[in-house]
Amino acid sequence: MASSSFSSLSLTLLCFLLILIVSSSVAQTSSRPKALLLKVTKDAKTLQYVTQVSQRTPLIPVKLTLDLGGDYMWVNCERGYTSSTYRPAPCGSAACQLLNTTSCTTECYSAPAPDCYNNTCGHGPTNSVANTGTSGQLGADVFAIQSTDGKNVLEVVTDPRLYFVCGNNFIEAGLASGVTGMAGLGRTGASLPAQLSSYFRFDPKFALCLSSSTRSSGVVFFGNGPYTLLPNVDASSSLTYTPLIINPVTENGFLGDASPKYFIGVTSIKINDKRVPINESLLSIDAEGYGGTTISTADPYTVLETSIYSAVVAAFVKAMPKNVQRVPSVAPFGACFSSNNISSTRLGPGVPSIDLVLQSKSVYWRIVGANSMVEVKKNVLCLGFVEARTDFRPRFAVVIGGHQIEDNLLQFDLSTSRLGFSSSLLGRSTTCANFNFTSTA
Ligand SMILES: *[C@@H]1O[C@H](CO)[C@@H](O)[C@H](O)[C@H]1NC(C)=O
Ligand SMILES: *[C@@H]1O[C@H](CO)[C@@H](O)[C@H](O)[C@H]1NC(C)=O
Ligand SMILES: *[C@@H]1O[C@H](CO)[C@@H](O)[C@H](O)[C@H]1NC(C)=O
Ligand SMILES: *[C@@H]1O[C@H](CO)[C@@H](O)[C@H](O)[C@H]1NC(C)=O
Ligand SMILES: *[C@@H]1O[C@H](CO)[C@@H](O)[C@H](O)[C@H]1NC(C)=O
Repeated sequence: MASSSFSSLSLTLLCFLLILIVSSSVAQTSSRPKALLLKVTKDAKTLQYVTQVSQRTPLIPVKLTLDLGGDYMWVNCERGYTSSTYRPAPCGSAACQLLNTTSCTTECYSAPAPDCYNNTCGHGPTNSVANTGTSGQLGADVFAIQSTDGKNVLEVVTDPRLYFVCGNNFIEAGLASGVTGMAGLGRTGASLPAQLSSYFRFDPKFALCLSSSTRSSGVVFFGNGPYTLLPNVDASSSLTYTPLIINPVTENGFLGDASPKYFIGVTSIKINDKRVPINESLLSIDAEGYGGTTISTADPYTVLETSIYSAVVAAFVKAMPKNVQRVPSVAPFGACFSSNNISSTRLGPGVPSIDLVLQSKSVYWRIVGANSMVEVKKNVLCLGFVEARTDFRPRFAVVIGGHQIEDNLLQFDLSTSRLGFSSSLLGRSTTCANFNFTSTA
């Protein structure tokens, strides 16, 4: 009796030890990272947010402009694409279904290359900066990316089959110098966040933290937090959440598809706590997919529908303290001021706060001076919002642009369909340029 209970105890112990050994060796080889990251640099000339990925065999660095609302990654294959591991996606395969595409090239008569295989599905990659598009084939290749524990840079891990679409010279035009494609982070099964979380099996979440400086880099995290910024701030703590809304009509792509862009439910706009008089029905998405509020890394400044733009500029000018002198406007902005009586941080009292009010009065995204004002020249600060093109009806009422999301953490959670936002991290004494890229655990 005693000996049998002893042996069952030692068996349990042995099993426990075995599990310990197995799990620690899995942890060491770490084929399952908890999170990944990409470094993001703001290009001074184009104001695009540029990242660099590693792709193909042998691996080469590929510079891409970040496209928050982009369907998937595309690279310019017309520049030449050499890799021993490229695999075209056969028509009807699961990969083609990721893109929800029925387009199929049955026969292609040029030399076999990543943009010309037989029986391969394709899609229409777009350049959301230049507003151009083309058609291209879908295929997969090796993709290598740095893993992280949210605080340190860990080893490079590899996804052997990350799907992307081949673009060409035409849609590359307009991208920052050295950039040969776009990194789509949008709401599709084929975007980088969707593919990386599915392959590495972590939660389908990613977070954007863009630096306002062109000299120091921001970061995109894939996976759960912490997202630790120096000195020691977990930017994923104290987020405010709002539902992400689906726009059922895509603006380019196939009829019947939903938009790959992320939308939030702004219900009104307040400046210094006073409601701006606008036609609030423009803020909802109509049956044709028009209206609503989206977020874009392809627009350097927030774009507002004309009537909203006029109302916001008027209310902002009115709310500016009387000792701040208005000066002639500098295009593309409509309200500029002498910076003399505005504190250098643009955070202190003075610059009116702009609140995007969300699902209830108590939930709002506050845009402070650091995110509303743009220094256009010495001593001149402008309200960094621009008017939507007026020659036709703009697609969206509000497109929150790059300047307004810099030094804010935005976490997109695709499983719960919600956005977590931090408002300016300057208020927490850190910035998006404060991830320690030189650290290693
Ligand atoms: C595609 O199929 C056609 C007809 O069978 C053939 O002539 C052509 O070489 C093939 N192209 C490629 C890229 O394999
Ligand atoms: C895929 O296409 C079908 C048919 O056009 C459409 O009903 C569905 O909403 C699409 N799915 C997505 C995710 O866009
Ligand atoms: C408000 O905008 C909606 C949607 O564009 C439009 O149908 C309506 O006529 C507008 N209302 C006013 C008072 O302008
Ligand atoms: C700054 O504020 C002071 C005191 O209110 C005022 O006298 C001065 O004209 C202001 N200067 C500018 C450039 O607005
Ligand atoms: C960044 O990490 C490295 C390596 O762990 C460390 O030596 C360095 O002090 C860190 N930088 C800062 C500013 O803390």
